[in-house]
Amino acid sequence: MAMSMKDGSFSTSHHHFHYHHGRVLTQHRMLVPRRHRVHRGNHGIITAFAASCVVIVLVTYFETSRMLIPSKVVTRSDLHQLTSGFTKDVPKKEEQPVNTKFPSHLTPHPHRPSAMMVGFSHCSGNLLASALSAHPDVVVNRRSTKFFSGNQSLRWYLSQMPPSLDHHVTVDVGLSYVTNRTHLKRIKAYNESIKIIVIVCNPISRLIANQSEFLRTIGKTKVESLESKILVHSMKSTLYTEVDGKRRLDAHKLSKIGDFFQFLVDLFLLFPRKNVLVVERNRLYKNPISQWAGIYKFLGVPPYRQATTFDQSSGELCFNVSSVQRSCVKDPYVDVSRVFREADATSMQESVRNFYRPLNKRLYMYLEDQFDW
Ligand SMILES: *[C@@H]1O[C@H](CO)[C@@H](O)[C@H](O)[C@H]1NC(C)=O
Ligand SMILES: *[C@@H]1O[C@H](CO)[C@@H](O)[C@H](O)[C@H]1NC(C)=O
Ligand SMILES: *[C@@H]1O[C@H](CO)[C@@H](O)[C@H](O)[C@H]1NC(C)=O
Ligand SMILES: *[C@@H]1O[C@H](CO)[C@@H](O)[C@H](O)[C@H]1NC(C)=O
Ligand SMILES: *[C@@H]1O[C@H](CO)[C@@H](O)[C@H](O)[C@H]1NC(C)=O
Repeated sequence: MAMSMKDGSFSTSHHHFHYHHGRVLTQHRMLVPRRHRVHRGNHGIITAFAASCVVIVLVTYFETSRMLIPSKVVTRSDLHQLTSGFTKDVPKKEEQPVNTKFPSHLTPHPHRPSAMMVGFSHCSGNLLASALSAHPDVVVNRRSTKFFSGNQSLRWYLSQMPPSLDHHVTVDVGLSYVTNRTHLKRIKAYNESIKIIVIVCNPISRLIANQSEFLRTIGKTKVESLESKILVHSMKSTLYTEVDGKRRLDAHKLSKIGDFFQFLVDLFLLFPRKNVLVVERNRLYKNPISQWAGIYKFLGVPPYRQATTFDQSSGELCFNVSSVQRSCVKDPYVDVSRVFREADATSMQESVRNFYRPLNKRLYMYLEDQFDW
């Protein structure tokens, strides 16, 4: 069955079909000259009916194909993917395998995400997602669905969401979506007024985290935090290129990792500014009370005392994962100067910092906000 999209929600065009069916039929009957019906009897009526059917089929076809392409932003295949198997929410049967004694609003079941953490990877987004889920009115999907970059059905996607009650806010996390315009457009097609959270962090810290993950994936080491010397050594060999016989920083690689501006421009072109919250990681670590308050307000949930503490010297972040459980995690690349200091590579730090300085400035101007990078 064809689907249509309206006001950000999807509905089947089934009802439209019947609506047009009725209207076209009546209109067409009036167009058939009276004498044909009188003089030719049944034969005339049958011909008129057949003609009506042709018109109905054509009108329905053009109407539905018009409705399938609501805006230039969404391609037909995007839309097809997003609407396949869609109903307003996950079907009641799948939602409630449990006790039917309780009404639906008292039975936890998956809800449509109304907020999305879209990036940036390597800026502690997963830690913040855990801390966010401590709020009693927020559920965070921690399972990687890759829905907006993959080809699963919307029904499947929604069924992956954690069970929640109607007044809860469901937040999904996909930290690489922000770097791909196509994925952002699909998010927009899903819900153009969805709330978007973006976490940014010092580009050098992101560079280090990216490098450390790279070393981990090629099997250099299995430990979570790498020794600074190994890290900086590998950066020295991978972040430079030869230009005219001179060793230069690889500008392309560096800006892909640390130039947030280029991605945020895409994001702000697609979503209204008021629906996007940019969170700076260090600010959240240093000033958790006011920063969390801002996040909760943005999500429209009541205040909650998420007591995040961050120990700058050890890089340990502690936060409540629920009202009874507290967790501490090492987040080792926050203090970038320590990494370079330990590796005796302050000159490299200086050149990377010089590379990012103008890019940071441009970002501050664009966001009308100044970070301490
Ligand atoms: C974005 O994602 C699409 C589809 O998943 C892919 O074809 C495209 O190459 C990606 N673009 C970038 C810039 O990574
Ligand atoms: C899309 O789905 C098909 C069939 O389920 C699968 O074979 C294919 O690998 C999927 N492609 C992507 C990009 O996930
Ligand atoms: C889209 O997101 C907004 C903001 O979270 C929410 O209020 C609205 O209900 C969502 N719409 C749908 C169809 O999920
Ligand atoms: C590091 O960043 C680059 C550029 O964004 C990306 O292509 C690469 O996959 C990242 N590496 C890791 C290990 O995350
Ligand atoms: C955070 O965790 C601590 C220790 O488990 C607990 O005493 C405190 O009440 C929690 N805070 C909130 C707001 O739930």
